[in-house]
Amino acid sequence: MNYSSAKAVISGGASGLGFACAQSIITEGGQVVLLDINQEQGEHAASELGEQALFIQTDISQEQQVESAVDKAAEFMGAINLAIGCAGILGAALIHSKKGPMPADYFQQVVNINLMGSFLLTRAASQHMQNNQAVDGERGLILHTASIAAYEGQIGQTAYSATKAAITGMVLPLAREFARIGVRVMAVAPGVFETPMMEKITPEICEQIAAGIPNPSRFGTPQEFAAMVKHIFENQYLNGTTIRLDAAARLQ
Ligand SMILES: NC(=O)c1ccc[n+]([C@@H]2O[C@H](COP(=O)([O-])OP(=O)(O)OC[C@H]3O[C@@H](n4cnc5c(N)ncnc54)[C@H](O)[C@@H]3O)[C@@H](O)[C@H]2O)c1
Repeated sequence: MNYSSAKAVISGGASGLGFACAQSIITEGGQVVLLDINQEQGEHAASELGEQALFIQTDISQEQQVESAVDKAAEFMGAINLAIGCAGILGAALIHSKKGPMPADYFQQVVNINLMGSFLLTRAASQHMQNNQAVDGERGLILHTASIAAYEGQIGQTAYSATKAAITGMVLPLAREFARIGVRVMAVAPGVFETPMMEKITPEICEQIAAGIPNPSRFGTPQEFAAMVKHIFENQYLNGTTIRLDAAARLQ
C-alpha cells in the first residue's frame, strides 16, 4: 500500500514519535486521527496538521473509550488501514526504594497503558480493518512501539520492560491470526529518541547515554522513527516481527 492512501489512527499521537508519524502521513497525502489523553496538546497537534487530521481525547487503557474513539476515527476517514500504537509511559521506579515496596497499582498502571492499551487498539482497529476492500491482498497494518528495554531493561525499568517485552511477544501470534483478514502486525523497538519522554533526563545524563550509542552517537530523531513506519507500511513482506531501531545501542 502507498503511504498517500494511509488512513491512520495513532495512539499517543499528540507528541513525540506518534506525532512525527502523523506529520509524515499528512505530508504524503494521507489522513490521521490522533488518540491521546492530553487534550490541550492533542488539539494543538491536530490543528497544526490541518483538515485531514482529527484529535479525539482517549485514555488508551479504557476499553469503551478506545472502541468509541476508533469508531469515530473510521467515520472521519471512511476507513482505517493503519493503527500505530505510540501511547506509553516510562513508569520508572525501583521495586524496593526508600519509600518501601512499589505499590501494585503503580505497576498495574504501566501495564494498563503500555500493554492493555496496545491490545485495545489492536482489537478495535482490526475490527474495522477486516471490512476494508483488499489492496494487493492487504487490508491494513497494525504497528506497535516496543523498546530496546524489552531486551536490556535497566534497573528501575521492571514494569516498563515487562510491558515492552509483552508487546514483542504479541506480534507473531497476532500476525498469524490476522493473516486470514489480510492485516499485518509489526513492532518497532526504538533505542533512545529525542522526544518529550526523554526531556525528563538531565543534559549530563543525556550526554552520557549518547556517548554510549555506537553509530551515529546521538539520540534518534522522531523523523527517523516515522521513516521506519512508512517503510513498514509500504513493504508488504514485513510481518510478525519486531525491528530494532537503535544505532547499535545496547543498554548497560
Ligand atoms: N523516546 C524514546 O527514546 C523511546 C524509546 C523506546 C520506546 N519509546 C516508546 O515510544 C512510544 C512513544 O513515546 P515518545 O517518546 O513519543 O513519548 P511522548 O511522551 O512524547 O509521547 C507519548 C504520548 O502518549 C500519551 N499517553 C500517555 N498515557 C496515555 C493514555 N493513558 N492514553 C492515551 N495517551 C497516553 C502522552 O500524552 C503522549 O502524548 C512510547 O510507547 C514509548 O514507550 C520511546
